[in-house]
Amino acid sequence: MPLFDVYPLYDVTPVRAKGMYVYGADGKKYLDLYGGHAVISIGHQHPVYKRRLRKQLSRIGFYSNAIHNPLQVQLANEIEAQSGCEGYQLFMCSSGAEANENALKLASFYTGKSKIVAFKNSFHGRTSAAVAATDTPKIIAPLNAQQDVEFLEFGDEKALIETLKKGDVCAVIIEAIQGVGGLDMPTHEFMKHVEKSCNETNTCFIADEVQSGFGRSGKFFAFQHYGVTPDIISMAKGMGNGFPVGGILAHPKIKPWYGMLGTTFGGNHLACQASLAVLEVLKKKSLTTHAEALGEAFMERSKTLKGVKLIKGKGLMLGLEFDFEVGELRKRLIYNHGIFTGGSSNKKLLRILPPLTIEQKHFNQFFKALEQEL
Ligand SMILES: Cc1ncc(COP(=O)(O)O)c(C=O)c1O
Repeated sequence: MPLFDVYPLYDVTPVRAKGMYVYGADGKKYLDLYGGHAVISIGHQHPVYKRRLRKQLSRIGFYSNAIHNPLQVQLANEIEAQSGCEGYQLFMCSSGAEANENALKLASFYTGKSKIVAFKNSFHGRTSAAVAATDTPKIIAPLNAQQDVEFLEFGDEKALIETLKKGDVCAVIIEAIQGVGGLDMPTHEFMKHVEKSCNETNTCFIADEVQSGFGRSGKFFAFQHYGVTPDIISMAKGMGNGFPVGGILAHPKIKPWYGMLGTTFGGNHLACQASLAVLEVLKKKSLTTHAEALGEAFMERSKTLKGVKLIKGKGLMLGLEFDFEVGELRKRLIYNHGIFTGGSSNKKLLRILPPLTIEQKHFNQFFKALEQEL
């Protein structure tokens, strides 16, 4: 039976990985500056991650959400302690799209409204309302297009307040640092305006932290660079270091009722342990501060590169925008130098999303390779 052929593939077959490196079936070693799309936060095969998952698997791996699972409570408490998001309530699911579906659904229940405001170049996932709020018409099927979504420009304060004042918007969903879209960021003023306008119009402010959360940006959540308070925060990717786990944090003002949200797999014992492992290592190794420092050094070093037009992002969510399309460069980095990097919907942007355990020597290897190729 053939695979449903929806992914163009690089000619690499990873068979094992450790720390910053992935090893191919051909025995080649690859430096992972892509982190499997911002997923590998504490490094491949981290001993804490393996220990926690092994131990949990030998006890109980899964049961439904109809029973007590103290690991979910432990995880909620640890997220609260590390993020400083006091009083928020955790609901767990298994992916980023699902986190955003739940965030949007919750906003709709809470406000009794149904329209969504999203932003140009946004990416929120590939399912139902999440894909409808994604600014890529090609991946929106007629079924998804039934959702009522308005896309605004970052910075268009007037359009935002005028749209919200009409009274039919349940949520404004925003990435504090755009991922797939190409590392663009709203200004501080605009983010404050989003918060204020949502508060004034009974609209939920959803921060999509699926890619930028869990320390990647140099703060626990990227919205924290702006000093705002979202109503709902969605998370996934780095939350589980490769284990499929996602979730939302709902502001204390949002009250739950039985059946409001639900899932079979979300929050299972293994998923909780994967995320607890990430939090344990984030704390022990101060990886959020490390991400901030290494990101700054990367940006400084990038200033001397040939052909770089813009250096974008924060922490270890980074982008280099060139004056040419980077598709061929990415291939040369893989095949000639054994280095994985990421692309984005901005074809001229090289995305760097390494494990947060990266060290300066790994970036030195990247810059040496890049200088040879430019
Ligand atoms: C900001 C953001 N939101 C949501 C998603 C969707 O996550 P998933 O692929 O886990 O469904 C992504 C994936 O790249 C993302 O970057």
